[in-house]
Amino acid sequence: MSQHLTALYDTRVAEGLLRPDPAQREVIHLLEQVRERLEAPERTGFLARFRKAEPMGKQGLYLWGGVGRGKSMLMDLFFQHAHVSGKRRVHFHAFMQEVQSALHEARKTGVDDAIKPVAEAIAKDLKLLCFDEMQITDIADAMIVGRLFERLFEAGVVVVTTSNRHPKDLYKDGLNRQLFLPFIALLEERLEVHELSAETDYRQDRLAGEKVWFSPADASAKSSIDLIWRDLTGGREEELVLEVKGREVVIPRFWAGQARASFDALCGKALGPADYLALVGAAKVLVLEDIPVMSPAKANEAKRFVTLIDALYEGYVRLVASAAAEPEELYVEGAGSFEFERTASRLREMQSADWGAA
Ligand SMILES: Nc1ncnc2c1ncn2[C@@H]1O[C@H](COP(=O)(O)OP(=O)(O)OP(=O)(O)O)[C@@H](O)[C@H]1O
Ligand SMILES: [Mg+2]
Repeated sequence: MSQHLTALYDTRVAEGLLRPDPAQREVIHLLEQVRERLEAPERTGFLARFRKAEPMGKQGLYLWGGVGRGKSMLMDLFFQHAHVSGKRRVHFHAFMQEVQSALHEARKTGVDDAIKPVAEAIAKDLKLLCFDEMQITDIADAMIVGRLFERLFEAGVVVVTTSNRHPKDLYKDGLNRQLFLPFIALLEERLEVHELSAETDYRQDRLAGEKVWFSPADASAKSSIDLIWRDLTGGREEELVLEVKGREVVIPRFWAGQARASFDALCGKALGPADYLALVGAAKVLVLEDIPVMSPAKANEAKRFVTLIDALYEGYVRLVASAAAEPEELYVEGAGSFEFERTASRLREMQSADWGAA
């Protein structure tokens, strides 16, 4: 028999990997119930007494709450130990992109209702779908999620999702929101909606007091950054591609709201404000490596860097960076170097221990 999630959580606490948190333990209990439903759906009658926990009546869990409370960590612990064939953990944004392109393909074949075959293809052989960071900002997504999820639920897929918002606040102030309301009702009907009300922002906690600006960007900077990255992500990562106005913004390394990319990848290419805003929408921490000292010939890179830092600053994204020099020395002459002073000052402010604290 597999180990209780509570026992696994307590082991991590005992090993000093996690701090004990009663609010997280409550979630572990709910996840145990989801796992029970998943792993033993056929056990009824007198055998039910051997159950580890009561299986959940609902078809999964919608876990929401403030940043850094441990939602993704808890979901990943659950996912890792959910012994079912056909499980998938995916960033919500990446999932919706996949759905949109599948819909696009399906419509080409002239089907009446493209959502049906797309949902069927997703649900095929799938018992568990875990989404990290459910949020809906795009009207195209808002208009299809209701019917899509209805199909997924009908196919019996168990859904666990994390989000920073209560279902009622999804797609808030969005265009044609009345057409989106059935999706909210569906989530509330099918999923256990639970707020993780832990008091600590553990991500902030892990970064507070840490050095977050490394210069020069040498081997020792890289190994310090590697350590921070490991600590934040638990050693897992994947590529995340954000689609912005038909363009692709590739974040080479991403996990649970933490993004890692080089200066070159983000400022060496013709990206603009919309791209950086998309990044801010997906990341709560950006690890930006190898910021160079920029000469007047690099005015375009410097300008993009200013736009990027403004977006991060306004979105309260934590920055961990390696750079050839201190902020004030990065771009001292050339077009826009006067405005760069504000960027340098923001970079200073963003290094302070409590910056970005929720
Ligand atoms: N009880 C804990 N003790 C120590 N560290 C923790 C604890 N819970 C979570 N963490 C760590 O804090 C960081 C943030 O956790 P996590 O990513 O799960 O937060 P989240 O609630 O998903 O945040 P967000 O809403 O921003 O996605 C991770 O590195 C995680 O391992
Ligand atoms: Mg998360």
